Amino acid sequence: MLDYFFSLFSNDIGMDLGTANTLVYVKGKGIVLREPSVVAIDKSKRKVLAVGSEAKLMLGRTPSNIVAVRPLRNGVIADFEVTQEMIKYFIQKVHNRKGLLRPRIVIGIPSGITEVEKRAVQESAQQAGAREVYLIEEPMAAAIGSDLPVSEPNASMICDIGGGTTEVAVVSLGGMVVTKSVDVAGDEMDDCIVQHFRRKHNLIIGESTAEEVKIQIGSVFPLKEEKTMEVKGRDQSKGLPRTILVTSEEIRQALMEPIQLIIDVVKQVLEETPPELSSDLVDRGMVIAGGGSLLRGLPELLRQETELPVHRAADPLSCVALGCGKYLEELDKMRSAPKFLKTI
Ligand SMILES: Nc1ncnc2c1ncn2[C@@H]1O[C@H](COP(=O)(O)OP(=O)(O)OP(=O)(O)O)[C@@H](O)[C@H]1O
Ligand SMILES: [Mg+2]
Repeated sequence: MLDYFFSLFSNDIGMDLGTANTLVYVKGKGIVLREPSVVAIDKSKRKVLAVGSEAKLMLGRTPSNIVAVRPLRNGVIADFEVTQEMIKYFIQKVHNRKGLLRPRIVIGIPSGITEVEKRAVQESAQQAGAREVYLIEEPMAAAIGSDLPVSEPNASMICDIGGGTTEVAVVSLGGMVVTKSVDVAGDEMDDCIVQHFRRKHNLIIGESTAEEVKIQIGSVFPLKEEKTMEVKGRDQSKGLPRTILVTSEEIRQALMEPIQLIIDVVKQVLEETPPELSSDLVDRGMVIAGGGSLLRGLPELLRQETELPVHRAADPLSCVALGCGKYLEELDKMRSAPKFLKTI
């Protein structure tokens, strides 16, 4: 009865707790918050100074007493306490005026995280005021958010390339039949770009610059018109600032290694898919989602490698949050966890 009362007045929340970005979906409103999963901390006082976009601007630019950290690096929770602070901050930010009402929360979590980490996420949400917490594995949320017919007795395939992890799954009848994840995704691509500049140009660049290069001229398949970009960094031997001009061809070369690892995981999932379901995939192919799927030429490359149709989700950066949101709406309709979906 009390639950019913709460559900009338509270705005339930869906959250994509990503290693690079956190998105919050509020029932009835859609996605209301998108911020980098970054927290700036004053080390001497152990105090949180900034969260989200404000903290991301500080990455690599802080004085010695302040650190800007990404508490979810590599798809696992590297720092419990900071992750909890971040979850609380985001929940309170979208719920500031409704502080007294306790929302239900659906959180998308990487499929590889441990029981202890799951509990940590659950507890943080409860401490932030959640009445009920449901955890859903990200590939499943991404599949739902990309409008794949997950509850049908046919196979759907999703490949979510995020910041820290790439998760690939074949889904049928509301469950994941085959799933694999690897901690190679956007961050690893940035690292490879940093290393490339150091080796080939003797130039030290920061992570944020590497990400900019990837987004502006990165590709994995020959482009109709190749691109160039000016990149600023610090000369390794002279120690002075220097600018160089790079081409999309050389960045493509630098991205080969992580991309090959992602292709390998996709192929492993296909090899382990039961034959009946494989045959569904011949026509339906796979959907790619996550920020990493925005890399130029990725659908073309995956098509060439797997001989399957490959589609990019309509809004790759929002799929998981939208999936959590749809799950919330289902929860409401049924007033209990939807049977066709497995919560954890
Ligand atoms: N246009 C683009 N081209 C290539 N990469 C991009 C583009 N836009 C964003 N990215 C990359 O996508 C990654 C972030 O994607 P996303 O927000 O899906 O990750 P996440 O959900 O936070 O991480 P994870 O799913 O691993 O927990 C970053 O590495 C970012 O650099
Ligand atoms: Mg993600």
